[in-house]
Amino acid sequence: MAEKIILKAENLSVNFKVRKRVLKAIRNVSLELRESETLAIVGESGSGKSVLTKTFTGMLESNGYIPEGRIEYNGKILSDLKKDKEWDGIRGKEIATIFQDPMTSLNPIKTIGSQISEVIVKHHGASKKEAKQIAIDLMSRTGIPNADKRYNEYPFQYSGGMRQRIVIAIALACRPKILICDEPTTALDVTIQAQILDLIKELQEEFQFTTIFITHDLGVVAAIADRVAVMYAGQIIETGTVEDIFYNPKHPYTWSLLSSLPQLGERGGDLFSIPGTPPSLYHDVIGDAFAPRNPYAMEIDFKEEPPMFKVSDSHYAKTWLMDPRAPHAEKPELIQNLHERFLELSKHEITQSFYEGGDLASGK
Ligand SMILES: Nc1ncnc2c1ncn2[C@@H]1O[C@H](COP(=O)(O)OP(=O)(O)OP(=O)(O)O)[C@@H](O)[C@H]1O
Ligand SMILES: [Mg+2]
Repeated sequence: MAEKIILKAENLSVNFKVRKRVLKAIRNVSLELRESETLAIVGESGSGKSVLTKTFTGMLESNGYIPEGRIEYNGKILSDLKKDKEWDGIRGKEIATIFQDPMTSLNPIKTIGSQISEVIVKHHGASKKEAKQIAIDLMSRTGIPNADKRYNEYPFQYSGGMRQRIVIAIALACRPKILICDEPTTALDVTIQAQILDLIKELQEEFQFTTIFITHDLGVVAAIADRVAVMYAGQIIETGTVEDIFYNPKHPYTWSLLSSLPQLGERGGDLFSIPGTPPSLYHDVIGDAFAPRNPYAMEIDFKEEPPMFKVSDSHYAKTWLMDPRAPHAEKPELIQNLHERFLELSKHEITQSFYEGGDLASGK
């Protein structure tokens, strides 16, 4: 696959000033986003998923800055943009974001319709009348029944799932090239989550945008993504296709994440959870950040940061276990035969099963 690279981050770091201290939230990350793909970013809370993608739209809080590295999009160096004005043609228009809580993106005292139309008038220079028609059409396409009636309603008259559909409609009103979905379904109940995921997939086929999908739910990843980037303590520690990450994971942190898949726990039994906590990012991390929690850690893991090793053309892993001198370590038994468990299920069935607590572990 010789896809076009639409966005590229190179050796990117992000720091936050917190009183007199500096928190190193993103530490030297490189990432290529390919046109029309869905890239999932996974990792525990605080690993840097949101901060990394906020740099793509210049939305870091004011105490955040990029001390080194660059972000290139469509010939523009985004990491050089400073003022809001410089982001005008890009943020929302070319690169749009959907957040977890739709209420944060909607104005509670304006009608749903006017909020969509506003964007269409602003970005497309359409007349108010034209904008209304486009808005109603978009509302229908994102699955709002009776869109022409509901155009005049307010956000509080919509359910959570319907509000998220509206946020998606607003994001798509600008025909963005890249849609960043930052845990867009986490706040919704399970059946609605699956519907919103299906909607995003359908719209992506229709509008052909590139998607970055942030989640800490690996079930969602299997259902929606082409490629996966696994983040830990401000770094991407493994990246590959969904197949690479599920069936041939190389980093012990990825092993741990996979071991905590809900479907692998005994029904009613305890889920595997990763013991320990990530390191403080106020201090320089020495060695592999995961070492203290890693049962496979070697001496070198505590001393030297591993490089990104190439596993295959599509697959990279930042662990000393990939060094030819390392002893052989086998992934945990629990995740040995994920392939067989997933193979027969279509992606849609995987989503359904994850949301309905289906029993993949027994292969049913
Ligand atoms: N404005 C800020 N000031 C100081 N620290 C921040 C700020 N924003 C984020 N951080 C820190 O940066 C790190 C990465 O945060 P980020 O929000 O990207 O995590 P995340 O992976 O998105 O987590 P979650 O899954 O909880 O959303 C965390 O340690 C967080 O506390
Ligand atoms: Mg986040």
